Amino acid sequence: MLENRRILLIVAGGIAAVKVPDLIRRLRERGAHVRCILTKGGAQFVTPLTLAALSGDKCYQELFDLKDESEMGHIRLSREADIILVAPATADIMAKMVAGMADDLATTALLATDKPVMIAPSMNVMMWTHPATQSNLQILKTREVKVVGPSAGDLACGEVGNGRMAEVPEIIAALTRFFQKNDGQGPLTGYKALVTSGPTHEPIDPVRYIANRSSGKQGHAVAAALAELGAQVTLVSGPTHEADPDGVNVVHVETAKQMMKACNDALPAEIVVCAAAVADWSPENAKQKMKKEAGKTPALTLAENPDILATLSQPGPARPNLVVGFAAETENLIENAKTKRAKKNCDWIVANDVSPGSGAFGGDNNTVHLVTADGVESWPTLRKRAVAERLAERIAASFQRHL
Ligand code: CTP
Repeated sequence: MLENRRILLIVAGGIAAVKVPDLIRRLRERGAHVRCILTKGGAQFVTPLTLAALSGDKCYQELFDLKDESEMGHIRLSREADIILVAPATADIMAKMVAGMADDLATTALLATDKPVMIAPSMNVMMWTHPATQSNLQILKTREVKVVGPSAGDLACGEVGNGRMAEVPEIIAALTRFFQKNDGQGPLTGYKALVTSGPTHEPIDPVRYIANRSSGKQGHAVAAALAELGAQVTLVSGPTHEADPDGVNVVHVETAKQMMKACNDALPAEIVVCAAAVADWSPENAKQKMKKEAGKTPALTLAENPDILATLSQPGPARPNLVVGFAAETENLIENAKTKRAKKNCDWIVANDVSPGSGAFGGDNNTVHLVTADGVESWPTLRKRAVAERLAERIAASFQRHL
């Protein structure tokens, strides 16, 4: 995906500039052409000679370099790229980009470009969380500037927190995703995904049924997010008020048994996400409406429904590569989720607290923990749409690792 892509790499003055030589090496290994602009601050951390040697091109530093202005003006420099990557992007260069300043070659190129721009911020945690930087970040995002990182961890200044520049593989993945999207492809193009969503309705008789409080919001959002990344998605949905997501093949069902059949019909698929709140039991279904009889309370005889997640996770040649389940719990969230993962033989479990007061059922937010073979990742409270996007990104990343 990076073969023959032209990347103008602006290296600003942060300690993370020491990661840049490795970044250039990895980009060139993937066939990208890298040309560097080094700011005065950046030159405190990495030499122009290093960047020139690794990129196989001149390292540009001065705005008023007459020789280069005749050969390669700042306008041409910025226009001859497919993307401009600012790494590390300091608080200072972000502020200058917002203000439209052009007081050196880097800022002038950024102002003169008509090409997409990606930044990899890197700074002290207080500088990152400062309202000025956060507001600059929002403005840059509204101008379609792409942002990769930063991540949390030990910072070079000795403090701990958010502000570490994204690692080289993360930057490469972000660039790859950018070019894929630009080419009308996504990281999941060519993959088939199956998602279950919503509740199931289990009829007691022709007019009554057993149901649950699932809204289908989370499952539908997962289907939309996977489709957004290029996957060919079938969504098997129980009865919900959610609209069918764009670009997704939706199969509407009512009962757990119908959901099981629709899932089997949608296979094979590489990715399965079971987000439906499938009823565990179905009542013996009376053919006619049950009539009320004075003094008599009917007993419901329940039979176990198929466990769709466990069935699809069964080992075998047709098993999807990645099966993700959800665990709706009201207590011992992580422990129950781990047990559920092992019991149902799925690969990942998205565990969420659905106890009264969590607002998860029917609400727009979700606080989830991703339980995998590698451990537990706790995500902050996010909109269900954001949980879905993050999950889809994680799924895409796990497939890219195996390419
Ligand atoms: N699930 C399923 N088919 C079922 C029951 C559950 O596919 N018949 C899936 C759900 O879509 C979810 C996961 O299993 O991905 C966990 O569902 P949950 O209701 O939380 O677990 P249960 O299996 O019902 O276990 P318990 O009642 O012990 O919580």
